[in-house]
Amino acid sequence: MAEKFDAVDVIRTKRDHHRLSAEQIAWVIDAYTRGVVADEQMAALNMAIFLNGMDHDEINAWTAAMIETGERMHFGALNRPVVDKHSTGGVGDKITLPLAPLVAVFDVAVPQLSGRGLGHTGGTLDKLESIPGWQASVSKERMMEILADPGCIICAAGPGLAPADKKIYALRDITATVESIPLIASSIMSKKIAEGTDSLVLDVKVGSGAFMKNIDTARELASTMVQLGKDAGVTTVALLTDMEHPLGRAVGNALEVQESVDILAGGGPDDVRELTIALAREMLTLAGKPDVDIAAALDDGRAMDVWKRMITAQNGDPDAPLPQAKHTHEITADRDGYLSTLDALAVGVASWRLGAGRARKEDPVQAGAGITLHAGFGERVRRGQPLFTLHTDTPDRFERALEALTPGFAITDSAPSMPESVILERID
Ligand code: URA
Repeated sequence: MAEKFDAVDVIRTKRDHHRLSAEQIAWVIDAYTRGVVADEQMAALNMAIFLNGMDHDEINAWTAAMIETGERMHFGALNRPVVDKHSTGGVGDKITLPLAPLVAVFDVAVPQLSGRGLGHTGGTLDKLESIPGWQASVSKERMMEILADPGCIICAAGPGLAPADKKIYALRDITATVESIPLIASSIMSKKIAEGTDSLVLDVKVGSGAFMKNIDTARELASTMVQLGKDAGVTTVALLTDMEHPLGRAVGNALEVQESVDILAGGGPDDVRELTIALAREMLTLAGKPDVDIAAALDDGRAMDVWKRMITAQNGDPDAPLPQAKHTHEITADRDGYLSTLDALAVGVASWRLGAGRARKEDPVQAGAGITLHAGFGERVRRGQPLFTLHTDTPDRFERALEALTPGFAITDSAPSMPESVILERID
């Protein structure tokens, strides 16, 4: 059968600053998934979009076309509100781990179809895989059972959701076309809409450790995604949150699981607890439960109980000791003062170089690798006090990790101005 369009014409349209029609978009994404449009043609089109953008209708059509290439999930049989959360990714961002069980305490189903990490931001599945026995892959039938009881699941997204996005994302990764708002928004939202959630809360990170380095681009990305969700019938809100500094005091897989468990036990760092409760509030409001006492469910053990049942349901042992790295290296303060620089990207890259993250998608990660932070941004420190502990199984990695970390922190005489909250803005 003759093809409806020609890839070169579609590329030329966008190259010359014209709008793509919905039909052109539907065709090019379907034809690329079928292998009719070549990688180099899709790469050229992505670059034209990166340079010249897409308007609202084009982004909607691009998202819908990617959803069309795969399956859609349905959670109607659960007879309960279904709410999902997505973070654009940051350093020390383990919030999904305590958040899913916390929201499920209130009879709201939380399906968190997650991925593995690439680059300096860790993947949720990599973190959970440090729990002995825990398995990321779950059949659809078992997923529905777990969503019925204990009510939340964090598992691997199957290959069937928006397969076009997988192919296009891999291509963007190697052609410098990731950082495009229309392409990021449609990539994230095609998967979330196909996943079949009723409503969605987005955590859009802003700062050195995030995709979006400044508040204006983060706001534009958040507004684009919120509108895409609404247009597809998924009630969507976004919080813009700070990623200038790492979140919490632990970066790295098992280290972040331990910090999540601390939060579920009613403790943990203030910023992690604040953001967990704020996102839970947004999710529960969308689920029609705005007035429940969220903090109480962390403090009285109900969220911990759901966590343990969620981990057990995927063959994990929630009470087993977590893996620890074989080697550690401590960095101490060389003077009295205030920790007035603590750069999220530097900490993320150092943790990645210690073995917590991967450079290629087939690389293994070290469960115990990462960084413990003994002081937070703006904190008063004393000469000789430990600032960071670096963890790895392979001590030859310390040198490269230190090269990344050392320019990322500084102690000064005066205190820096402190952000009032990790939450910067709300967009709905
Ligand atoms: N995450 C995604 O899923 N897609 C992007 O384009 C960027 C981040």
